[in-house]
Order: sequence, then structure tokens, then C-alpha cells
Amino acid sequence: MSSQLLWFVFVFSIITFVEGNISIGGEACSLNDLRGLTSFKAGIQIDSSGRLPKWVGHSCCKWEGIVCDNRTGRVIEIYLPGLISSDEFFFQSQMNGQLSPLITLLTSLEVIDLGGLVGLAGNIPSSIGYHLPNLRKLNLYGNNLTGDVPESIGKLSKLEELLLYENRLSGSLPPSLGRLENLKMLLLYSNQFSGPIPDSFTNLTNLIHLDLHSNYLTGQIPDRIDQLQVLKELDLSNNSLRGKIPQSLTNLTSISVMYLDTNYLEGEIPFPSSFGQLPSLAFLRLHNNSLSGKIPPSFGYLVSLQRVSLANNNLSGAVPSSLGNLVALTELYLGGNRLSGQIPTSIGQLSQLILLSISHNLIQGPLPHEMSLLQNLQTLDLSFNSLELSTIPQWLAELPSLSKIFLAGCGIQGKIPEFLQTTPSPIQELDLSANNLSGSIPAWLGSLTQLYLLNLSGNSLVSNIPDTVTSLQDLGVLDLHSNKLTGPINQIFEIGKGFPDGSLTCIDLSDNSFSGGIEEIGMGAQCGIQFLNLSHNFLEGRIPMTIARMISMQSLDLSYNELSFNLPEALANVSLLETLKLQKNHFTGKIPIGFLELRNLKELDLSDNLLEGEIPVGEPLINFPESSYSGNKGLCGKPLTPCKPRF
Ligand SMILES: *[C@@H]1O[C@H](CO)[C@@H](O)[C@H](O)[C@H]1NC(C)=O
Ligand SMILES: *[C@@H]1O[C@H](CO)[C@@H](O)[C@H](O)[C@H]1NC(C)=O
Ligand SMILES: *[C@@H]1O[C@H](CO)[C@@H](O)[C@H](O)[C@H]1NC(C)=O
Ligand SMILES: *[C@@H]1O[C@H](CO)[C@@H](O)[C@H](O)[C@H]1NC(C)=O
Ligand SMILES: *[C@@H]1O[C@H](CO)[C@@H](O)[C@H](O)[C@H]1NC(C)=O
Ligand SMILES: *[C@@H]1O[C@H](CO)[C@@H](O)[C@H](O)[C@H]1NC(C)=O
Ligand SMILES: *[C@@H]1O[C@H](CO)[C@@H](O)[C@H](O)[C@H]1NC(C)=O
Ligand SMILES: *[C@@H]1O[C@H](CO)[C@@H](O)[C@H](O)[C@H]1NC(C)=O
Ligand SMILES: *[C@@H]1O[C@H](CO)[C@@H](O)[C@H](O)[C@H]1NC(C)=O
Ligand SMILES: *[C@@H]1O[C@H](CO)[C@@H](O)[C@H](O)[C@H]1NC(C)=O
Ligand SMILES: *[C@@H]1O[C@H](CO)[C@@H](O)[C@H](O)[C@H]1NC(C)=O
Ligand SMILES: *[C@@H]1O[C@H](CO)[C@@H](O)[C@H](O)[C@H]1NC(C)=O
Repeated sequence: MSSQLLWFVFVFSIITFVEGNISIGGEACSLNDLRGLTSFKAGIQIDSSGRLPKWVGHSCCKWEGIVCDNRTGRVIEIYLPGLISSDEFFFQSQMNGQLSPLITLLTSLEVIDLGGLVGLAGNIPSSIGYHLPNLRKLNLYGNNLTGDVPESIGKLSKLEELLLYENRLSGSLPPSLGRLENLKMLLLYSNQFSGPIPDSFTNLTNLIHLDLHSNYLTGQIPDRIDQLQVLKELDLSNNSLRGKIPQSLTNLTSISVMYLDTNYLEGEIPFPSSFGQLPSLAFLRLHNNSLSGKIPPSFGYLVSLQRVSLANNNLSGAVPSSLGNLVALTELYLGGNRLSGQIPTSIGQLSQLILLSISHNLIQGPLPHEMSLLQNLQTLDLSFNSLELSTIPQWLAELPSLSKIFLAGCGIQGKIPEFLQTTPSPIQELDLSANNLSGSIPAWLGSLTQLYLLNLSGNSLVSNIPDTVTSLQDLGVLDLHSNKLTGPINQIFEIGKGFPDGSLTCIDLSDNSFSGGIEEIGMGAQCGIQFLNLSHNFLEGRIPMTIARMISMQSLDLSYNELSFNLPEALANVSLLETLKLQKNHFTGKIPIGFLELRNLKELDLSDNLLEGEIPVGEPLINFPESSYSGNKGLCGKPLTPCKPRF
């Protein structure tokens, strides 16, 4: 009986095999589908998600990540996002062609979703367009695909989503893509595509999301881009596109996101020409281009705008007062242009504004008092304009949300105003550099406990650094260079005293009149400093051994001081050091042999000291020019003249 059953099963299998299907245990699986999936699996060596090892037997429709059509039994979806998360072993050449078995055998596929570190390498098979007539979605993002996008892809006429972003695909975009009339989403960003955007793309009339950013695309934005009538998101940023922004963009009634920044676009901002255009435009980035002319007076018609960046162009003329109509605006970046005139009073209507940056323009004062209405403003950057403010307006300190204040190069005179102490919102970043501030660094600064950045460089401040700075436990960046400050600096290394980890990464006290020693370096919590510049002062004494604890230091400049004694061997422990400038001091003795351990050193200046003996032989020390060692008492050896042999 049981042998009869076996016989039956055997014969049945043969029959179904001949038919091209396998049916065991009632789960149909097309033989081609099974072969395709099996050989796909064989091409993947590591599946840290553990899904593929469970692909055994013949019931492929039951496998994880596989969906079959319950009528035909054919595989219609393969869904294995993030298949392999270990990226060490699988990007190898034998992986090439993993896609081929899927594409040539699973001919009923409607969805291929293998995005995100699946580990597919190699090319997209050039025949892809001939095998998958039902494909609606192809997602291969975040793999290691190379080569170009095959022309035949234009035959996948049912394709709605093509997601190939974050690969290493190159070549030009095939014009045949323009035939995919059902395409809704085309995401090809962060690849190495070059050449122009094909004009045929304007035939993609169902496209909702087009993202080509961070490639090497050239040429112009297609003139008839307005034919993409349902387009909501357009990102062409970070390419090499030239020419003008097409006027026709104005006709895109659904567009909400438009990123054209970081290209070589020129000419004027062409929109809008009347009210009601671009009614949904909320996010507009045109920065980092060569746009010129004025910000159109009609700009205020774009009432849906929330975030706008026009920075780093060549825009001129006044900031249009229509800007005040943009009541949904939260961030406005206009820095790095040639805008002139005054800030319009209408700015006060932007009640949602969180960030306003107009630095590096030709804006004139006075500031309109209406700015005091910006109740939500957190960041204000007016640096380097022709404002000639004389004083910091008091209303500024009454803005309830303001915490980042950049007023560098604004012609501010007099003392640092006391009212900054009592701002309703704690100040996190304060840049008053390149002004004409005089008087002292006030002791109350120590009460700004949330301060992260303080830049008072380039003023005429005369005082000590107040001891209260030690309570600034969150301070990360301190720039006091080019003032007339005096006294000791050791309290700098005690900033955040009593807190386990110092947050200071950058200190510049150069070009002042500080005196005393530096023996506290490395003693406090502040061992995360990456950049320390104490040059052009009157510091004296030795570099302490504790310098070895400054393990994050990349740049150390102690030049033009009165420092002396031997260079400590411990400096060799500061192994990330790229820049070391100790010139114009009174250091004595030999260059420590340990300096040969400073593998990252790119810039070294030991000149004009009292050093002597042989320069340790080897990299990186021999790579520096003579001038790095000149003006010492008796240094010899490469790159200077050879040392005299001793007898
Ligand atoms: C095999 O599968 C095809 C569809 O792929 C179907 O038309 C055919 O009826 C199946 N044959 C058997 C014996 O199940
Ligand atoms: C086939 O699948 C569809 C949708 O997944 C479902 O609605 C339908 O009931 C299924 N048919 C059978 C016979 O299982
Ligand atoms: C892609 O493959 C190359 C070797 O062909 C490898 O060097 C590179 O690290 C891989 N890229 C990623 C993102 O893993
Ligand atoms: C758009 O499609 C039409 C019809 O298929 C075709 O004639 C035309 O050349 C296409 N336009 C572009 C720019 O490729
Ligand atoms: C711009 O593109 C280049 C090259 O494609 C890439 O390396 C860079 O990270 C991109 N920059 C940004 C800001 O996306
Ligand atoms: C906008 O569309 C209208 C109607 O389709 C057309 O007449 C006009 O020329 C288009 N404007 C631009 C700038 O392309
Ligand atoms: C502007 O462009 C420069 C050079 O192309 C690039 O380095 C920089 O990151 C860009 N800035 C922004 C904000 O994208
Ligand atoms: C900026 O525009 C002016 C004309 O308005 C032009 O003379 C100048 O060359 C432009 N500068 C740059 C850097 O493009
Ligand atoms: C401080 O401001 C000056 C001039 O405004 C600038 O050059 C410097 O880079 C700023 N310092 C820091 C650490 O940002
Ligand atoms: C800076 O302020 C001093 C007085 O504190 C004044 O004499 C000097 O002219 C000012 N310099 C500039 C460039 O405004
Ligand atoms: C340190 O400051 C001085 C004077 O301000 C400057 O000339 C020098 O370039 C700075 N050193 C480094 C490494 O940036
Ligand atoms: C410098 O590093 C060496 C080896 O890592 C260690 O033995 C020595 O104690 C360190 N020197 C100082 C002063 O910390």
C-alpha cells in the first residue's frame, strides 16, 4: 500500500515536473521560480537576518519574503530589504550576476524589493526589460551596483517605482526611462551618473517624486519640466547643472519640495509671476548657485513656503517687503549675496520664523524695531553687513526664544551689554567677533550656563579671563583671539570643573597679551580639545608632561611666546596631531626621538628656538622643509646639513 503511494507520488512528480511546476504538500511553486530563487540564494553568502537559511524544500511560496499569486502560483513579489547587514565579506566579484537568475526566471514578478545593504554587486542585467512584463516596483537602493542603467529598462511599461539610489551606478541616464509612463517615483540620487537629464523625462506625466541629487549631471534643466503636472518633489541638487532655471517650473501646481541648490545655475529667479502659482511650494533650496538679479518682489506670493534658502548666490537689490506675506516661513537663509538696503519692517509678520540668516551681504542699519515681534526666532545671523549697529539693540535680548546670536562684523562699539545676561532664552551661541567691543569680558558670562560657542575675537577687549568661565560646563568653542586680554590662562583648562567629560573642542586665545604658564594642560577634564591656539602671547615656562593626555588634539599652536625648557617626549603621545607650531620660543635640548611617532603630522614649525642635536631620522620629520627647523642653536641632519661625525 505504502509502496503504491510512493509510486503514485513519483509519477505525479514526474508529470508536474514536465508541466514545469512542482507540487508537493499542496504548495505549488513554479519550477522556474524555484530555480531562480535557489540560485539567487546560492549567490548570497551571508544573511545575517537569518531569512535565507530557512529557504529549504520546494514550497517557495511559503518562504519568508516571497509572495505568490494565489491563482497562478507564480512568485509575484520578492521582499527582502536589508538582507545582509554585515558588509564585510559579500561585496565580491563572484556576487556579480546575482540579479540575473531572479530576472530571467521569475518572470511573473511584480515587486522586487531588495533595498538597503542587500549586498548586491555588479551590474543591473542588460536584459532586465525583456523578462519582467508585470514589474511595478524595482527597489535596489543602497547596494553596491555598478555600471549603467540598461536601456531596456524602458520596456518595463508597468513600472511605477524605480529606486536605485545610493549605489555606484554611472554613465548617462537612458532616454528610454521617459517611456515609463506609469512611473510615479524615480529615485536615482547618490550615484555617479553623468551627462544631461534626458528631455524625454518630461513625458513622465505621472511622476510624483523625482530625485537625482548628488550625481554629476550636466546640461540644463529640461525646458518643459512643467509637463510633470503631478510632481510633488523635485531634487536636482548637488550636480553640475548649468543655464537658467526654466520659467516653466512656475506651472507646477502640485510641487511642494524644490531643491535645485549646489549647481551652476544662473540668471534670475523666474517665479512667481502672479499670485496663485506654485501654491503648494513649501521647501525651496536654490543656494550655492550663481543666481543674480533681485529677489522678485512677487516672492511673497509663495505663501506656502516654510523653508527657503537662497544663500551663496549673487543676488542683489533689497529684501522685498512682500516677504512679510510668507506667514508659514520657519527658516530663511539669504547669506552670502549682495543684498542691500534695510531689512523691511514687514519681517515682523513672520511669526513662525525660527531662523533668519542674512550674513555676508550689504544690508544697512538700523534694524527695524518690528524684529522684536519674532517671538519664535531661535537663530539670528546678521554678521558681516554694513549695519553699523553701534550697540546691540536691547529688544534682541527680549526675544523669548533667541539662543543663537551671530552679530560679527556689525560695527558694534562699547562694552558687552549687560542685558545679554538676562535674556529669557538661555544663550547657546554668541558671536560678537570682528566688532569694536572694548572693556572687559564680564564675569556674568559664567552664568550663561548653556553656552556652547563664544566668539569675541577681533575686538579691543582688555581684561583677564574671568574665573567664572569654569562654570561653563557645556562650552565647546571658545575664540577670544586678537584682543588685548591679559593675565593667566590656566582657568581655561578647568572649564567644566567637576563634570566628568569636558566638551571643549576648540580654543583660540592667540594674539593677546596673556602671560604665565600652561602647566594645567591635561590636568582638568578638558582632554577632548582638538584645536588649541595660544600663539602670539607672553606665555612662559615649560610644556608639561600632562600634554600626553590631550589625545584628541589635532592642531597645537604655541608659537610666538616665551616658552622654554626641553620639548617633552610626552608630545609624542598626542598621536592625532596634524599641525604643531612651536616656533619663536626658547625651547632647548634635542627634538625627542618620539616625534617619529607623530604619523599624522602634516605641518611642523620648530624654527627660531634654541634646539640642538640631530633631527631624529625618519618620517615624518625628514619630509618638512628646512624652514621648519631653521634659526635654532644647533640642529643638524636631514633636511638640514648633515651632523658632524663624532670622533
Ligand atoms: C503550472 O503553472 C501554470 C502557471 O504558471 C499553470 O497555468 C498550470 O496550470 C500549472 N500546472 C499544473 C499541473 O499545476
Ligand atoms: C487570493 O489573494 C487575494 C488577495 O491577496 C484574496 O483576496 C483572495 O481571497 C485569495 N484567494 C484565494 C482563493 O485564496
Ligand atoms: C563596494 O565594493 C567595493 C569593491 O568593489 C568595495 O571596496 C566597497 O567598500 C563597496 N562599497 C560599500 C558601500 O560597501
Ligand atoms: C514623448 O512621447 C511622445 C509619444 O511617445 C514622443 O513622440 C516624444 O518624442 C516624447 N518626447 C520626448 C521629449 O522624448
Ligand atoms: C555631493 O555630491 C558628491 C559627489 O556625488 C558627494 O560626495 C557629496 O557628499 C554630496 N554632497 C552633499 C552635501 O550631498
Ligand atoms: C503654463 O501653462 C500654461 C497653460 O498650460 C501655458 O499657456 C503657459 O505658457 C505655461 N507657462 C510657462 C511659463 O511655461
Ligand atoms: C556649496 O558648494 C560647495 C562647493 O561645491 C560645497 O563644498 C558646500 O558643501 C556647499 N554648501 C552647501 C550648504 O551645500
Ligand atoms: C554678480 O553679478 C554682477 C552683476 O549684477 C556681475 O557683475 C558679477 O560678475 C557677478 N559676480 C559673480 C561672482 O558671478
Ligand atoms: C570667530 O569669528 C571670526 C571672525 O568673525 C572667524 O574668523 C572665526 O572663524 C570664528 N571662530 C570660530 C571658532 O568659529
Ligand atoms: C573703536 O572704538 C574706539 C573707542 O572705544 C574708537 O576710538 C575707535 O574709533 C573705534 N574704531 C572703529 C573702527 O570704529
Ligand atoms: C593661530 O593664531 C595665529 C594668530 O591669530 C594665526 O596666525 C595662526 O594661523 C593660528 N594657527 C593655526 C594653526 O591656526
Ligand atoms: C605615552 O605612551 C606610552 C605608550 O603608550 C606610555 O607608556 C607613556 O606612559 C605615555 N606617556 C605619558 C606621559 O602619558
